[in-house]
Amino acid sequence: PPTGLVDRYGRVARDLRVSLTDKCNLRCTYCMPAEGLPWLAGPHLLTDDEVVRLIRVAVCRLGVDEVRFTGGEPLIRPGLVGIVEAVAALDPRPRISLTTNGIGLDRLAPALRAAGLDRVNVSLDTLDRERFTRLTRRDRLADVLAGLAGAATAGLTPVKINAVLMRGVNEDEAPTLLRFALDHGYELRFIEQMPLDAQHGWDRAAMVTADEILAALRAAYDLSPDPTERGTAPAETWLVDGGPARVGVIGTVTRPFCGDCDRTRLTADGQIRNCLFATEESDLRGALRAGADDEELARRWRAATLGKRAGHGIDDPSFLQPTRPMSAIGG
Ligand code: GTP
Ligand code: 5AD
Ligand code: SF4
Repeated sequence: PPTGLVDRYGRVARDLRVSLTDKCNLRCTYCMPAEGLPWLAGPHLLTDDEVVRLIRVAVCRLGVDEVRFTGGEPLIRPGLVGIVEAVAALDPRPRISLTTNGIGLDRLAPALRAAGLDRVNVSLDTLDRERFTRLTRRDRLADVLAGLAGAATAGLTPVKINAVLMRGVNEDEAPTLLRFALDHGYELRFIEQMPLDAQHGWDRAAMVTADEILAALRAAYDLSPDPTERGTAPAETWLVDGGPARVGVIGTVTRPFCGDCDRTRLTADGQIRNCLFATEESDLRGALRAGADDEELARRWRAATLGKRAGHGIDDPSFLQPTRPMSAIGG
């Protein structure tokens, strides 16, 4: 009988992350150089119809029940609203979410909500305008704050915030960011910096660790274990001052969660990645354009999943950073 996306360790991928573009309107220093990157070639990008077709294969044949759109920056993909609408019309209807830098979200949130988007995660590393401008190389903090508010107003909830702390830049901001999130009803998560930057400049010693983040938060707040089931979520969460508000830490490096991974990824140029840190990909675009039917595409996706590694291997001496940078994987 046909099966879902199972790997040889028995993990089942039900959460599909789809990168819709490798381009971005920010230049976060931990992600991209100032001049940007050689972007994917236009003819290599999946068309809107091709993206929807592959998502349909995942949802209707492979048991995927959650679809998250990422980038680069997914809001700059012209067809985004139509893609969301088509995915929301699938049977069974998957949950649909979006990870964005928030720029333009205030304007787009109502249309995205109407198209069927359920919720958003917005990246925000600092609340200080000068730091934001230094960190992202663009003076757009006000746009991000407007995007967060617009998402909440449109009902794209829970609105989550992703923050990466960098030593010597914003490492003192954990309690300030938490205060802001609590005041606005956003759910804040801190992410340990990962070796996925295009510049290959990641330095383990410079990474602000989950333990450091938690210690900084505990100086200002009472954190208690969150009784809700973590499941396959990357974020470990705590109740803040007794709850119901929560704060999370995504500790990929010091607290890996690969054993519970339920994710599969599709890049904007139609490659399957079975792991964020995969060094090999599987080409679905070529098969699709050569005329493969849905069952053949599903078969290839299953085969691509089988070889998923046990874990990211960042601590192995033989660890190799993937050549595809974070901005073209989508996190
Ligand atoms: P929720 O369903 O809202 O919890 O989303 P999420 O945290 O899975 O997605 P989001 O796009 O907000 O990602 C936040 C951070 O988690 C990013 O830095 C991602 O790269 C990271 N992340 C997401 N999935 C994985 C994964 O499978 N492995 C690792 N190591 N990191 C992941
Ligand atoms: N390490 C950790 N998180 C990163 N992000 C981008 N690059 C990195 C990295 N090297 C974050 C973004 C966004 C999320 C999808 O991933 O800030 O919040
Ligand atoms: Fe899954 Fe790879 Fe992320 Fe680990 S690093 S949680 S295996 S995608």
